[in-house]
Amino acid sequence: MIIRQERLEDYDAVYHIVKEAFESAEHSDGNEQDLVVELRKSKSFIPELSLVAVEDGKIVGHILFTKALVQGVEVLALAPLSVLPDYQNKGIGLSLMKEGHGIAHKLGYEYSVVLGHSKYYIKAGYTPASKYGIKAPFEVEDESFMALSLNGSQNKLNGIMEYDKAFGVDIN
Ligand SMILES: CC(C)(COP(=O)(O)OP(=O)(O)OC[C@H]1O[C@@H](n2cnc3c(N)ncnc32)[C@H](O)[C@@H]1OP(=O)(O)O)[C@@H](O)C(=O)NCCC(=O)NCCS
Repeated sequence: MIIRQERLEDYDAVYHIVKEAFESAEHSDGNEQDLVVELRKSKSFIPELSLVAVEDGKIVGHILFTKALVQGVEVLALAPLSVLPDYQNKGIGLSLMKEGHGIAHKLGYEYSVVLGHSKYYIKAGYTPASKYGIKAPFEVEDESFMALSLNGSQNKLNGIMEYDKAFGVDIN
């Protein structure tokens, strides 16, 4: 399996992978594939942080990190993360995150923030974002809104996460 930056010619395959992965997901609004399309067109898009996992020449997974803000500080929003059902539980999701975190660190980002299954993201080092003073702009259980310090700093940001408008989340 290799992980590389997504290319223009991958867009269709990625659309179908995201759709298929989330069809069987526990939590989904059914629009994750369209969110990827919108985010690619946004100012928050970072081409180096839209990655695909390729096995035997076939794209089987995708991860996207986009820019978000906390108290004026640029952080990353990890969403969505998708692995085709037939390829799940082989470490692909974790490998996509690990690769993404390394690139993000090199690009100078301090935090990656994710909303999701705490039991899963803890495996990639995420911890409740409240530890870093990062608050969700919506009601959510503390353990499901998580952050990873990409450079190991414990610097507190103390603010509400502002997602790209493509997420449809307004600060309340
Ligand atoms: C969630 C997802 C990305 C995980 O990718 P993956 O490649 O299957 O995961 P990995 O192989 O890297 O990791 C597998 C481990 O994570 C655990 N895991 C996977 N999904 C989990 C979940 N939803 N909740 C808790 N643990 C989970 C597995 O039990 C396994 O644990 P083990 O190593 O202790 O046996 C993939 O299942 C997927 O695309 N799901 C549908 C879309 C989705 O829900 N995306 C995430 C939104 S928060």
